[in-house]
Amino acid sequence: MGLLAGLLAGCQSLPPSKPASQFTAQEARGAAVFQTHCARCHYPTTTQGLHGPGLQALTKLKAMPSGAPPTDARIRQTILYGHGMMQPVAIDDADLQDLLAYLHTL
Ligand code: HEC
Repeated sequence: MGLLAGLLAGCQSLPPSKPASQFTAQEARGAAVFQTHCARCHYPTTTQGLHGPGLQALTKLKAMPSGAPPTDARIRQTILYGHGMMQPVAIDDADLQDLLAYLHTL
C-alpha cells in the first residue's frame, strides 16, 4: 500500500478546506449532491481512500490520483464518463455545476 501511505503523508501539507459555515448557496447545494452521488465511495475531508481516493483539496493539487490535472473539464469527464474503476455517475448539468463549486471548497 505504498500509494495509501503516500496519500496519508500528503495530508499534512494540504491547503485548508473552506468551512461549511461559509458556504455559498451553490456550494451548499453541491455538498448535498456530493452526499447523494459521491460520498459512498469518496471521503471529502481526507485524501485517504474509501472505494475511490479521498478528494480533500482535489482542485488545489497539481494532479489527481491518475496524474490528470484537476480541471473542471477533467472532473466533469470523470463523473459523466467514468474513469478506470469508477463507473459513470448520471447527474444533470445543474447538479454538476453545484457539485463542482463544492469540490472547489475541499
Ligand atoms: C461506486 C463508487 C464511486 C462513486 C459513486 C464515485 N466514485 Fe469517483 N472514483 C471511484 C473509484 C474506484 C475511483 C478510482 C478509479 C481508478 O483510478 O481506477 C474514483 C476516482 C475518482 C476521481 C479521481 C480521478 C483521477 O483522474 O484520478 C475523482 C475526481 C472522482 N472519482 C470523483 C467522483 C465524484 C465527484 C463522484 C460523485 C459524482 C464520484 N467520484 C462517485 C469510485 C466512485
